Amino acid sequence: MSTSSVKPCMRGRSLLTLEDVSDREMLDLIALAEALKRKKAARSPRARQYLRGRSVAMIFEKASTRTRCAATVACFDEGAHVEYLGKSDIHFGRKESVADTARVLGRMFDGILFRGFAHDNVVQLARYSGVPVWNGLTDDAHPTQILADLMTIKQTFGRLRGLQVVFVGDGRNNVSLSLMLGCAKAGVNFVVCSPPELAPGAEGLERCREVAAANGSRVTMSDSPSRAVVGANVIYTDVWVSMGEEHAFEERLRLLRPYQVDMAMMRRSGHLDDGRLIFLHCLPAFHNHETELTRELGALEVTDEVFEAPFSKVFDQAENRVHTIKAVMVATLA
Ligand code: CP
Ligand code: NVA
Repeated sequence: MSTSSVKPCMRGRSLLTLEDVSDREMLDLIALAEALKRKKAARSPRARQYLRGRSVAMIFEKASTRTRCAATVACFDEGAHVEYLGKSDIHFGRKESVADTARVLGRMFDGILFRGFAHDNVVQLARYSGVPVWNGLTDDAHPTQILADLMTIKQTFGRLRGLQVVFVGDGRNNVSLSLMLGCAKAGVNFVVCSPPELAPGAEGLERCREVAAANGSRVTMSDSPSRAVVGANVIYTDVWVSMGEEHAFEERLRLLRPYQVDMAMMRRSGHLDDGRLIFLHCLPAFHNHETELTRELGALEVTDEVFEAPFSKVFDQAENRVHTIKAVMVATLA
């Protein structure tokens, strides 16, 4: 399929959570990302650049490797100019209100990528800027990550509908909640496996159950890492302590140690030997002693053996961040 045959019609719209797109539009964004990935691989000098002449502002209150680089490369590939605005580079929320910053940036840029803490800030940026705003992660949601996750799952299994994704760990964090909604919209069965203290809230869970039911799939919850993964095609985890929650480190270690993804857990899926199982992680991951934080503790949410195994698709997933963020920008700006 060529890029011209995949055209989600989202011109001028923002992506703050996956609720902002219909189920069909979400799948179309993934199809567009696949087409853009093929276009990039072909490296044709005649290929059209969809964002030529556009300018994109990227506000980052939190650190980022993948989201920042994926968005930068996506813009570069499609001919847009990018301006990176770090936490101390602009007055955002300190000397100038979010609404004023939004109105200024909206007069200058064609789109704004935001990564930060309070979800309300990205909502305000979208409300006041008048240009498409893309959520590159807030405390509540990480929608562009989930597009890359679903693309990676589809790339591996050739389909989404009917597969089983099990998220193991901090079930109420931004990635888990967005993944739950993304899976529900794609007709993927989703299990969130976490201690009761870190389970998703009732309202979000109910909403995702409704969406899943409409797509012929199920969303379930479990606190049992031994039972939850039975039948899994994808075992997915994330850090135990998200950015901004560092104060909770000791408590998370205590709660989540039994939820570490190891080979025994992968085996319990029942699919380790038939090739119908992958491991995913949005990254960054604590899988060995090689980070400042884990020098003494060693692996946290996933063992090195699982992380480095052939069924671990974490770097395909990271690469797909480029193609999916690009698809969102092209669909909303081009
Ligand atoms: N997965 C992800 O969002 O990575 P970064 O924090 O490096 O952007
Ligand atoms: N839940 C993690 C995701 C990092 C990409 C965090 O918010 O820090």
